[in-house]
Amino acid sequence: MKIQNPNYIPALKYNWLTRFYDKLISKFLKEKVWKELLIASIINHRPERILDVGCGTATLAIMLQKEFPGASVSGIDGDVKILAIADKKIKEAKLNINLKEALSFKLPFADNHFDVVLSSLMLHHLSDDDKKKTFHEIIRVLKPGGQFVVADWGKPNSIFIRWLFYIVQLLDGFSTTKSNVKGLLPSMIIDADFVAVKELQRIPTMMGSISIISSKKS
Ligand SMILES: C[S@@+](CC[C@H](N)C(=O)[O-])C[C@H]1O[C@@H](n2cnc3c(N)ncnc32)[C@H](O)[C@@H]1O
Repeated sequence: MKIQNPNYIPALKYNWLTRFYDKLISKFLKEKVWKELLIASIINHRPERILDVGCGTATLAIMLQKEFPGASVSGIDGDVKILAIADKKIKEAKLNINLKEALSFKLPFADNHFDVVLSSLMLHHLSDDDKKKTFHEIIRVLKPGGQFVVADWGKPNSIFIRWLFYIVQLLDGFSTTKSNVKGLLPSMIIDADFVAVKELQRIPTMMGSISIISSKKS
């Protein structure tokens, strides 16, 4: 079933570009570097349940399942086309990851279910209002004390990188990326009642700076 949402922005804006996603992101965005940092920032070394929100082609979910073989890893995404790519990669890797078609602001999971929730390069696809609704849903599905880790576009490290980020804004939209580029994600996460909110790193790439933010549910 295809989710109906007129504001939905697929991975590279146009559906026909989705099949090139993995090649582009690994070549131009130092994907391995910051996805490894994201995983290294997980405090609980024996999580039972992990969720990747906006999992795309499941590169991160696969890395997580390999890093935490005892954990149950789930990934949700609102795009069936990208989930088909994810499913193929998971089968090829002979892993067991639970994929679901769903929207970030309506997560199909019970309250207090996950030890860790992650989201990489998804939040900048959402309006500020949908970002807030998404944070609300993430805090709902996290166990008390559970960790929420984000990798997404943040305040650029230099003016040059700010200019490069216009490429992303042309693709993914100016209104959805505005709060990212202003460096507002950490304060939005605090406003959503997360605690211990900290920007751990900001990694410059060829298209902008990727900010790694860790937080917890109290
Ligand atoms: C740029 S891709 C990032 C994919 C993956 N997380 C990664 O790091 O490579 C953004 C993903 O978020 C998904 N997405 C966008 N809005 C969403 C929403 N409201 N709920 C769930 N997924 C969403 C898109 O379909 C896409 O797969």
